[in-house]
Amino acid sequence: MIDLSQLKRLAGERAVDYVQSGMAVGLGSGSTVFYAIQRLAERVRAGLEVRCIPTSLVTERLARSLGLRLLDFSEVAELDLVIDGADEVDPNCNLVKGGGGALLREKVVAAAARRVVILVDETKLVGRLGAFPLPVEVLPFGWQVTLRRLERLGCRATLRERGGEPFLTDNGNFIIDCHFGEISAPAELEREIDLIPGVVESGLFLNLADLVLVGRREGIVEEITCRARPSPQRLPA
Ligand code: 5RP
Repeated sequence: MIDLSQLKRLAGERAVDYVQSGMAVGLGSGSTVFYAIQRLAERVRAGLEVRCIPTSLVTERLARSLGLRLLDFSEVAELDLVIDGADEVDPNCNLVKGGGGALLREKVVAAAARRVVILVDETKLVGRLGAFPLPVEVLPFGWQVTLRRLERLGCRATLRERGGEPFLTDNGNFIIDCHFGEISAPAELEREIDLIPGVVESGLFLNLADLVLVGRREGIVEEITCRARPSPQRLPA
């Protein structure tokens, strides 16, 4: 039995090697990034100077509790680096994200960063995206209609719940999890999802990752450099 938390810790801590003094850093969300934030705080206590934008209220609370300096987009136009987790990574470095429900802010932050470093344990590497249900953030208004339109794209769609109530994102929206099984054409699917009224954002992160750090059960971190491809969602270099 592998201890996944060890693999997450390996990848999370390695990510902080890419942080340099003076950087504005985006902090992702989830259990893997948790290790990165803890390591980052250690380096800050040792003298590293960084300012961070968190992608969720949970991450914000953690960062504050560890004494990290926070900023927002009124103070900085772009970020030097973002470190974030993922639920699936395919061989082209395309991602499914949003298992924790923070996908909207995560995408805004990733798209505003010069470099996106993704941290995963090896179980997140897949040949094709889609076994992990694709999270889609939607407006609460008319979510039933949005869900039916998502199902017409070929998935079984379920409203995410917590404690018997709809799960609410940090932005006051709902999440619909779309069970596709396998996504053969991620870019086309992303375009089709984005066209549905009521959809706020999907958890498909295409052409956004620059580097993927993979915690391996051999106790090493594999570094996968992603081919640089233009993405209309990224800031111009
Ligand atoms: C949250 C995310 C997370 O990065 C993703 O769910 C991975 O989480 P974990 O590191 O806990 O496995 O996208 O919206």
